[in-house]
Amino acid sequence: MKLLHVVGARPNFMKVGPVLRVGRSAGLDQVLVHTGQHYDASMSDASCRDLELPAPDINLEVGSGTHAEQTARIMLGFEPVILENRPDWVLVYGDVNSTVAATLVAAKLGVRVAHVEAGLRSRDRSMPEEINRIVTDQLASLLLTPSRDADKNLLAEGISSDQIRLVGNVMVDSLLRLRGKATVLDMPARLGLSGPYAFVTLHRPSNVDRPETLDQLLRALEDLGERMPVVFAAHPRTRRCIADFHLAAPNGSVLVTEPLGYLETVGLVEHACLVLTDSGGLQEETTVLGVPCLTARANTERPVTITEGTNRLVASTRAAIREAVDEVLRERQEGRFRPGRPEGWDGKAAERIVAELGSRR
Ligand code: UD1
Repeated sequence: MKLLHVVGARPNFMKVGPVLRVGRSAGLDQVLVHTGQHYDASMSDASCRDLELPAPDINLEVGSGTHAEQTARIMLGFEPVILENRPDWVLVYGDVNSTVAATLVAAKLGVRVAHVEAGLRSRDRSMPEEINRIVTDQLASLLLTPSRDADKNLLAEGISSDQIRLVGNVMVDSLLRLRGKATVLDMPARLGLSGPYAFVTLHRPSNVDRPETLDQLLRALEDLGERMPVVFAAHPRTRRCIADFHLAAPNGSVLVTEPLGYLETVGLVEHACLVLTDSGGLQEETTVLGVPCLTARANTERPVTITEGTNRLVASTRAAIREAVDEVLRERQEGRFRPGRPEGWDGKAAERIVAELGSRR
């Protein structure tokens, strides 16, 4: 069985790693394609190294652009790769532009696509990722889901139950395998943090592309910084927006860093008092690590992180964030904070994925 894995952006790397490893132990023929959607050392190389990914067999080097440009460049680059490699399956991960672009190409060439992390829905089509999820799931042959809500979403969209298989959350495979390595980095001490601190990431267009919203968020970080030190790992897009809008960078008690590698991030998240983010992955990682998470969004495609985990949504305003932080700290103090872990988030999702592919030869 020949598998062709397609990744392109940072949140793909922690999902492909475990599947590649299990595929390798099973002696499968595998090809790793990196589209080059993320290309900065801090956005791509550092995490790939931490996750012990092999160098990609093929890099399409598409870089940044508008959504249409980026998607089109990936499609043009990927078509000859499929024709040359003739895989049994194309595996796509998550909801980024590389996911949908590769799926469109493979589906039209009649090559089966397996979508890892299928079925998540925010029901917010202003998010580019939601469009990517819907199109990918309609075209993929096999929908490998992380949670039961995803199965329900797919069934409601008319997808047949034999195409859907609940495998659990493959990102948790990476987290559980590499957590120990992250701990020994002793990230808090390296950043001079001795007591409670908050860890923050923000990069979604809905939060950073409008000056009023981004300014509210930066001021919210300053408020938070009055309660505890804040580590803010800033995505290149966020940095660019802060500069372009001439916004004041958050003041002294907020440490603004470059995007961090995977191990550095996990090493900071696991000891954080709370995390404020708009990332999809961090909503899940905080649930597994038992760390309270405030997600600065109006909705989430990952509702189990709220119903079973440590996540809650918060509006992207200074007042709402201040109130939510108070509530988290109160819950912790009163011992009302009880994290749980969803079904199948157990470190064995990749084994189930490879077994499922094998059973459909
Ligand atoms: C992409 C994903 C998003 C994911 C995020 C994680 C889509 C639609 N979005 O968003 O779901 O949460 O990755 O990081 O695929 N840039 C750099 N260097 C890089 C990459 C990007 O400077 O290596 C800058 C460029 O200015 C670029 C901008 O960031 O235009 C946006 O990059 P892009 O890959 O289009 O989307 P992300 O915002 O990173």
